[in-house]
Amino acid sequence: MRLWHLPLAGLAWLAMPALAQNLVGHGGPVGALDSRGGVLLSGSFDTRAILWDLASASAHNVTRFHDGNVTAVALLPQGGFVTAGQDGRIALWQNDGRAPEFSTAPGISAIAALDVAPDGAHVAAGFWDGRVALLDIASQDIAFHQAHSERVTGIGFLQGGDLVSVGGDLRLARWNTALELQARADLPDLPNGLAITQNRVAVIFAEGALRLFSDNGEMLPERFLTDRPLVALAANGNDIAAAAIDGTVWLLQGADLVQRQMFRAASGPVWGLTLDAGQVFTAGADGVIRRWSLTDGTALGGQAMAEDADYTDDSRGAEIWQACAVCHSLAPDDHSRAGPSLHAIFGQPIATQEGYDYSSALQKLEIIWTPQTVAELFEFGPEAYTPGSRMPEQRIAAPEDRQALVEFLARAAEAD
Ligand code: HEC
Repeated sequence: MRLWHLPLAGLAWLAMPALAQNLVGHGGPVGALDSRGGVLLSGSFDTRAILWDLASASAHNVTRFHDGNVTAVALLPQGGFVTAGQDGRIALWQNDGRAPEFSTAPGISAIAALDVAPDGAHVAAGFWDGRVALLDIASQDIAFHQAHSERVTGIGFLQGGDLVSVGGDLRLARWNTALELQARADLPDLPNGLAITQNRVAVIFAEGALRLFSDNGEMLPERFLTDRPLVALAANGNDIAAAAIDGTVWLLQGADLVQRQMFRAASGPVWGLTLDAGQVFTAGADGVIRRWSLTDGTALGGQAMAEDADYTDDSRGAEIWQACAVCHSLAPDDHSRAGPSLHAIFGQPIATQEGYDYSSALQKLEIIWTPQTVAELFEFGPEAYTPGSRMPEQRIAAPEDRQALVEFLARAAEAD
């Protein structure tokens, strides 16, 4: 697992809150994104899924359930969300849930792709071993079908409720909700992902092409975007975004695949990609979820915590606190973010803030939070210092930065 190290002096997003709208909180690469209605869900190698509020750029729930990478995520139209992992499990959550409402047993194969039916009644998952699973949300019944002879690389629901899948066997297939085959077509190359755009099937390929198919698998327009593999794809209405392994993102019109914009989102692969509310979100190896304008592909800035009533000052400690404020408030009893309020934390035993639902792992520990223990938490990292914590792994490398942070927390506690 990669650890992200808080500030090297002068890191741009810390010095300038204007760029802090990017969502920073995961402790490892982010490979799965979904968004709708101002909410974004991310899944990471750090074994967590995080539910974000886009307006405030803050995290509202950090879930820790999967054993290994959270490989696919989806928001339900009726509220709540779904996560799936390398552990082959599918889990169903309420927005503020600490444990899944329902989960499937550990699987024999990892899950590569997930989608939710337009009416929110079913969730489909595609497995590395070629199976497709269809989960009925109301009854929690799950059906499996060997849909492909190789890994399923993409799955999506058509408006009528049928399901389309593509796989490493170079096939595209359409299934009804009884998982009976409705249509099948051969693909010209290895598909790496699938998205539904206006009831047509968009597929990205390892050879760098983006192709549209009808629901029966007839090929509609195709575009060769690059000679690098395309590795991520998202669609929303008539907008399509595709990303390559070198971090380039293309924005296209779904109807005819006319390219509207192209920009560089990262210097490495973009694994997570989603579109919502006029924005494009990308994520990859550094675990940062970046926001871009859907209109012109520019990086979006803006004040992240503009309406934040929390204590702040001009200190180095306040700068470092920015990375914590994504998940922690400093206002008394404000547990509206993913982590508990850290108001007047010194002198408090671990996991005792009233009104916050801690993980059982944290409740079993015996630590009194002092400037020294909080500094140690980020010297050794939550994973080592508070094993089983839902707080994503992060460390503060420099002793003077740890010191600045705890002095800031002490000043904040005195300020009221
Ligand atoms: C992505 C979200 C996230 C970020 C970023 C984050 N935390 Fe946390 N933190 C949590 C969560 C969630 C918990 C509760 C963990 C649990 O219940 O297992 C927590 C718990 C804690 C606790 C224990 C609180 C208690 O009442 O026992 C401390 C202290 C803490 N965090 C400090 C920090 C500091 C300081 C930073 C910044 C350097 C930070 N956190 C960054 C999510 C986060």
